[in-house]
Amino acid sequence: MADNGKQATWGGRFKDGPDGLMLAFGESVSFDQRLAPYDLQGSLGHASMLLSVGLLNQEEFNSIEKGLKELAEEVKAGDFEWKVEWEDVHMNLEQALRAKTDAADKLHTGRSRNDQVATDMRLFFKDACSQLRDGIEHTMSALLAMAKKYATTPIPGYTHLQRAQPVTVGHHLLAYVEMLGRDHERFSTVSNHANVCPLGSGAIAGSTLPLDRVHVAKALGFVDEAGEACLTPNGMDAVADRDLFVEFASACSLCSLHLSRLAEDLILWNSSEFGYLRLSDSFTTGSSLMPQKKNPDCFELIRGKTGRVIGNLSNLLVTIKGLPLTYNRDLQEDKPPVFDSFEQLGMCLAVTAGALEGAEVDESRCLSAASDPLLLATDLADYLVEHGVAFRQSHHLVGSLVARAEELGISLPELSDEDVQKIFPEIGDDWRDVFDLSRAFAKREKPGMPGPSQVSARIEFWEGILKS
Ligand code: ARG
Repeated sequence: MADNGKQATWGGRFKDGPDGLMLAFGESVSFDQRLAPYDLQGSLGHASMLLSVGLLNQEEFNSIEKGLKELAEEVKAGDFEWKVEWEDVHMNLEQALRAKTDAADKLHTGRSRNDQVATDMRLFFKDACSQLRDGIEHTMSALLAMAKKYATTPIPGYTHLQRAQPVTVGHHLLAYVEMLGRDHERFSTVSNHANVCPLGSGAIAGSTLPLDRVHVAKALGFVDEAGEACLTPNGMDAVADRDLFVEFASACSLCSLHLSRLAEDLILWNSSEFGYLRLSDSFTTGSSLMPQKKNPDCFELIRGKTGRVIGNLSNLLVTIKGLPLTYNRDLQEDKPPVFDSFEQLGMCLAVTAGALEGAEVDESRCLSAASDPLLLATDLADYLVEHGVAFRQSHHLVGSLVARAEELGISLPELSDEDVQKIFPEIGDDWRDVFDLSRAFAKREKPGMPGPSQVSARIEFWEGILKS
């Protein structure tokens, strides 16, 4: 604040400074201070461009560079004093630089906070995507280790949460590895979309000054594989565009959603009713009242936080949808949902990995559930197909056998040969072989199926990807 209470960066045309209430209402420094490293990096790139085109002399650049580096240290050490009266991260840093060097007054030449914040956020997104990709890899590795350990442990696969067909723990967990693999790729795409430099767009219409957009883009690493600068092609779009925010929040939502579905499966597996999974003490909690309880809170929280992350995406869509071009102050509200999704997803990934690392599968419970002969009713229908029956008829015939077994209160393979022959006279005497689980898996050795070689090949594939 200037001595007369006016805002020192934009207060020239004002008689009075902002009301305290307005300052508190309009500030963003409480949440955008985390952009400081990117803002300082962006300012250094911009200053080097100003030097290259003669808008700063070497001495001015040197003092700006020195000041920016000192500020980076202060921020990192937690010594920087953030002030609400300077509104946001950009003006806080600029004012702190002014206290170090008069050349700071030239730093904002040819730049607006509009292209500045767009640049900061693009640098943030590149970094955030890379951190989340690491987090995804860690969770994938934990899933893979468990999939490998229990690659051939049979469990029922479910549709409609009803027992459907036998799969293995390995095959089931690999389904989530595939999902996370797609998330990993999605964050690469978001990061590539972030790799475009808005600096030089100014407020909306660039600048009359001889700015060198290519120079600053290269200085900040906004380059393609050939090292060519990537520049936003329209200044109005560059400062109004929030596509990346939505793409990032959407990629976070999808990844959280995958973790939430995994969490739900594992909560079920962990219940006394299923009993397939035991969780370690370190990722469960007890009840304040019921002494016997050991609750899978880690996974329940992941389900809960996913609601929050999806809410952040809706928040952004609704904030942006009615805005005229270009920058409107509403857009200041674009950052909290993005930061929140980033943090929450990062934690959800780490917690999933941690909880999986300490979890154990109860193989005998899995085997006994997977030994339910009804899981192989479809295999019996396939057996009849191999004996020349059309599938629709074989489906119907096996349905009648299921009904007959139910009527007699026995399991499918316990039906007598006579009972079975009444329904299908030509049936061979080997029909009960169908109820052998190893046969069922051995017959499922095509890509995507739960046969043991398929599962181990896919584990190897992902292990190779994660090592590279
Ligand atoms: N704190 C602002 C934001 O995050 C920076 C951009 C301000 N631009 C403006 N024209 N007032 O959106």
